[in-house]
Amino acid sequence: MTSVLRSVVTGVGGYLPDEIVTNDDLAKVVDTSDAWIVERTGIRQRHRMAEGQTVSDMAVEAARKALAAAGRTAAEVDMIIVATTTPDLTFPAVAAIVQRKLGAPVGVAFDVQAVCSGFVYALSVADGFVARGHSRCALVIGAEAMTKLMDWTDRGTCVLFADGAGAVVVEAREGEGTTEDQGLLGFALRCDGTKQDLLYVDGGPSTTGTVGHLRMQGNQVFRHAVVNISEAVVAAAKAAGVETSAVDWFIPHQANQRILLGVAHRLGIDETKVISTVAEHANTSAASIPLALAQAVEDGRIQPGQLLLLEAMGGGLTWGACVLRL
Ligand code: ACO
Repeated sequence: MTSVLRSVVTGVGGYLPDEIVTNDDLAKVVDTSDAWIVERTGIRQRHRMAEGQTVSDMAVEAARKALAAAGRTAAEVDMIIVATTTPDLTFPAVAAIVQRKLGAPVGVAFDVQAVCSGFVYALSVADGFVARGHSRCALVIGAEAMTKLMDWTDRGTCVLFADGAGAVVVEAREGEGTTEDQGLLGFALRCDGTKQDLLYVDGGPSTTGTVGHLRMQGNQVFRHAVVNISEAVVAAAKAAGVETSAVDWFIPHQANQRILLGVAHRLGIDETKVISTVAEHANTSAASIPLALAQAVEDGRIQPGQLLLLEAMGGGLTWGACVLRL
């Protein structure tokens, strides 16, 4: 067996703001109902950040939990990657602010912008550093303030999105180069920029000079979601050298219960293997996968050594999948 450097997830942590907003709460703001939202999306409630709270604040909370779970301190972190589409400021990167707030030493720190696919993209970027020996202990964080991008008169979007953060510690460990190794085993990342009009934010520094609001043709995004994600999952499994049937847990991006189960059915993955937090968390964009992962690790469903499949799709359109052994 050859010895290879693997990027191993050694700790996970999640953070959700205290305030819970129910579907009934939103029915007082726009013309909607709990029944419609539950039937079309599976969402029952979502968390919203407090006045004065920032994305970096949430990212730091999640990062501290992930570091504690990994038995590491901020002093050992040499790289921070934050997947976010809702930074505190246009610059510096949220990762740089997180480094300062954690008291981590000078190292690599930057953000990745791939909207809801951001966490999967960020993991692959981290793998590029860790598996080449350029980082020994990386923090990969998904953190979002999606409620800040909402048009609160648009019932087609404002009921779907929410705030939160999730983080993982990724460390370099020797492996044997087999699918039994712990670590990130395979990725497939995609972007089709011609589909921008289906899902975008209508503002930005070099256009309107404003933050803007999220605009989405939900049913059109839905049409692409199951087919695109399934293709990426199969490609990621192939890259990892495993069958999708070998996966212990499927941890999809939490946009819509119908989409995540649609992907599972198309791939022949049993519903009992699907981690779903969409009912309680709604769509927290790049934070949704690490939040779901953190919940299932904390409640003991996901165990060390198990094979995990992550997938996401979001604005761009971007999408992708990752296979890893915990
Ligand atoms: N309450 C009540 N009615 C509503 C609501 C609401 N909150 N929102 C829309 N409707 C109405 C529409 O106006 C429409 O009414 P009409 O038939 O009279 O015109 C009807 O419901 C059906 O609308 P659709 O958009 O066709 O509903 P659909 O079943 O497709 O569900 C949804 C909408 C939930 C948005 C779904 O399409 C979806 O989840 N899409 C994918 C979202 C996604 O995955 N995005 C990617 C990640 S997000 C990111 O990257 C930032």
